[in-house]
Amino acid sequence: MLVDLILKNAKIPLKDRIIECGIAVDKGKIYTVAKASNLPKGSRIMDLKGNIVFPGLIDAHVHLRDLELTYKEDFYTGTCAAVAGGFTTILDMPNTKPPTNSLSRLKEKIEVAKKKIVVNVGFYTSYVSSIKELKQLKSYGVFGMKLYPYDQLGKNVLEDDGMFINTLRANRAANLLTLIHAESPQIIDRNEKRLEASQDYSAKAYINAHPPEAEINAVKNTCQIAEKTRSQLHFCHITLNKSLSLIEEARVIGTNITCEVTPHHLLLTKKIVEKERGNAVMNPPLRTLPEVRGLWEGLIKGKIDIISSDHAPHNLIEKKEKMEKRISPGIPGLETTLPLLLTRVNQNKLSIFHLIKILAENSAKIFKIRQKGQIIPGFDADFTIIDMKKRSKIDSSEFYSKAKYTPFNRFKTVGKPIKVFVNGELAMEDGEVLLKPGNGRILYS
Ligand code: DOR
Ligand code: ZN
Repeated sequence: MLVDLILKNAKIPLKDRIIECGIAVDKGKIYTVAKASNLPKGSRIMDLKGNIVFPGLIDAHVHLRDLELTYKEDFYTGTCAAVAGGFTTILDMPNTKPPTNSLSRLKEKIEVAKKKIVVNVGFYTSYVSSIKELKQLKSYGVFGMKLYPYDQLGKNVLEDDGMFINTLRANRAANLLTLIHAESPQIIDRNEKRLEASQDYSAKAYINAHPPEAEINAVKNTCQIAEKTRSQLHFCHITLNKSLSLIEEARVIGTNITCEVTPHHLLLTKKIVEKERGNAVMNPPLRTLPEVRGLWEGLIKGKIDIISSDHAPHNLIEKKEKMEKRISPGIPGLETTLPLLLTRVNQNKLSIFHLIKILAENSAKIFKIRQKGQIIPGFDADFTIIDMKKRSKIDSSEFYSKAKYTPFNRFKTVGKPIKVFVNGELAMEDGEVLLKPGNGRILYS
C-alpha cells in the first residue's frame, strides 16, 4: 500500500494522554494512525518534529458576510483568517445582506462561496415561516436555524411564545437544530429606542442598553419553551453565571440543550471598553469580573459545550464612536481564539484534552458535521499542528480578516498553529495561506 502522505513524528492528545505516532493520509482521509514502524509507505513524507496535532478545529459561529457586505469581509478573506487561526471548518451565520432565509438565497450564497473559500464551510438559515421551505433547506444541507432578537431575523418569533413553540416544533419535525441569540427582544428594543432618542451613541451607552436581564429573561423563557417542545436547542454566546445555571436546570429535566461561550466573554471584562471603546462593543456585551470567573468555572466543570469565536467583522469606521450613528457590534475572532486559549493551556488553566473537545469534537457532534472533529481512520484529514511554546503578540494589522481591529491587541500569547491541513492538503504554514480561492469545500449536513 502506498498512501498519499505520511505525517511522521506527531504528538496526538488522545483521551487523557499524548501519543507519539504518525498519521497516514490517503485521498483526503485519515488512513491510519500508528507507530512509525507500522505505517504504510507514503508518496510524500512530512516531519512534524514532535509538534502537537489537533483534529482540524471547528468554529460553529462565524459571520463571513460577503454578498453585499464584502466591504466588511468576503469568503476568501474570512476563510483565510480561519485557516491562519487554525480552523479547518466553519459554520456561517445567516444575518447577511440579503439574509439567508430561503433555498434560493442559500443556493446563491453557496455559488459565490464555492469560488472563494479555502476551508470547509457549512451554512445556517435564518427564520423561515413556510414548512415547505424549511424542509427544503434542511434536505439541501443547512446545519441549523438561527433566531435573532432583531427585525427580519426572528424577532417576531422570539417575542411571541406561540410562534416560538410552533417554530421549535417545526424544526424538531424537520430534524433541524435551532440556535438562539439570547437577549430579550422587548428589553433590547425598548433600550435601543431610548438610545435613539437620547442620541448617545457612546460605547458605554450601547453596552448599558444590553443589560444582563435581557439575557436572563431570554434564557429563562427559551428553557421553558424547550421543555414543552423537546426540540434540539443551542444557545450562542452565553455570558452570565445565571444563564449557565438555568441551562443546567433545564438539562437536568431532560431538554436537549447545548451552549457556547466566546473567548472575549471568557477573557475580557467591560472595563476594557473604557480604553478600547467601539473595538470592544459586541452583542451580548462584555460583563463583570465575577461573571468572567463564573464562566471559567462553568467551562472547567463541563457546563459549556463549545467555544466559538463569533467572528463578526465590521469596517473600522463602523466601530468608531460617532455623534450621529451607533457603533456596529461585533469583533473578529478567528485569528485570536486559538493562541489565546493555548495560552490558558500553557498556564495550566485548561487541559489540552478539554480544549480539543470544546474546539473540535463537541462541535462536530452537536452540529452533526460528519467525519470531522477527531483523528480516527476514515475521518477527513483535517489537522491543526501546534507549536505549544511559540510566543507572539496579537497584532490586528497582521490579520487576514478585513476587520483589522481587536480588543486583544498587544496581548501576549504562548502557543500557535504552525501548519494546517484541510482534506489532506497543506493549507497554511507559518502563518502563510497556501490554498487558492475555491480550494475549500462546501459542507452539507
Ligand atoms: O456582536 C454581534 N455581532 N452580535 C450579533 O448579534 C450580530 C453580530 C454581527 O453580525 O455583527
Ligand atoms: Zn454572531
